[in-house]
Amino acid sequence: MAEVLIVKNKEEAGALVAEHIAAKVKANPAFTLGVATGSTPLPVYRGLAAQAEAGVDFSGITCFALDEYVGLPAGHPESYRAVVDREVTEPLGLDVARVNVPDGSADGVQTAGERYEEALRAHGGVDLQLLGIGTDGHLAFNEPGSSFGSLTRVKTLTEQTREDNARFFDSIDDVPMHCVTQGLGTILRAGHLVMLAFGEGKADAVAGAVEGAVSASMPGSAIQLHAHATVVIDEAAASKLKFADYYRHAQRNKPDWQGI
Ligand code: GLP
Repeated sequence: MAEVLIVKNKEEAGALVAEHIAAKVKANPAFTLGVATGSTPLPVYRGLAAQAEAGVDFSGITCFALDEYVGLPAGHPESYRAVVDREVTEPLGLDVARVNVPDGSADGVQTAGERYEEALRAHGGVDLQLLGIGTDGHLAFNEPGSSFGSLTRVKTLTEQTREDNARFFDSIDDVPMHCVTQGLGTILRAGHLVMLAFGEGKADAVAGAVEGAVSASMPGSAIQLHAHATVVIDEAAASKLKFADYYRHAQRNKPDWQGI
């Protein structure tokens, strides 16, 4: 079972996870961070930017993003390349060449999955993977039904996900139909998974992922198969967890040396 940490709010979550990552980077300047998009990881990125301002040197790390839309023009502000550069690459002062994002260009998309898997393999994988979760339980863009063995590939977004993400575009018609996403099998290879979720709207997905049946119908439940998965959520996102009292008890009695 994943370790569940219930925190007061997203700022506390962001600071907690950012502190942990900063400590790992100090110990290993060549740390590899898996970055996620969406609104959920933003407090972590703010926390990391604060660590950078306080003097932590992130310039030796490598990042791999989880996913990318297919077919957005290069430089589109909502392409995940642009989002990751805005939220991570620039604030942390990283060389853009160290920040990998799947190739969602119309020309490259047919081989994008294999090339990304090869880049991950050649680099030696991801040390810590940040994850959000979709309201339908998707991880990255692995929609319900995605195989737990899946690798980076092109997927068709569900209408639910397109509606959820329409807020970033002028209208739902502008939300791409396809994406290139790391598979659940790819994500499960990372050394440590840190999944975050905030707000009532994520409570069902969190309960399904953490305590529900391990099933391709709930991609988030893949985290139950990982040896080191940490779930950092606020009270609202935790509100449908059956064993919340136990998680709080374990959190209160967590050994100081343990970290997340
Ligand atoms: C997107 C991303 C996911 C993200 C999810 C939730 O579809 N591909 O990686 O976890 O949406 O988004 P948000 O964090 O904005 O709720």
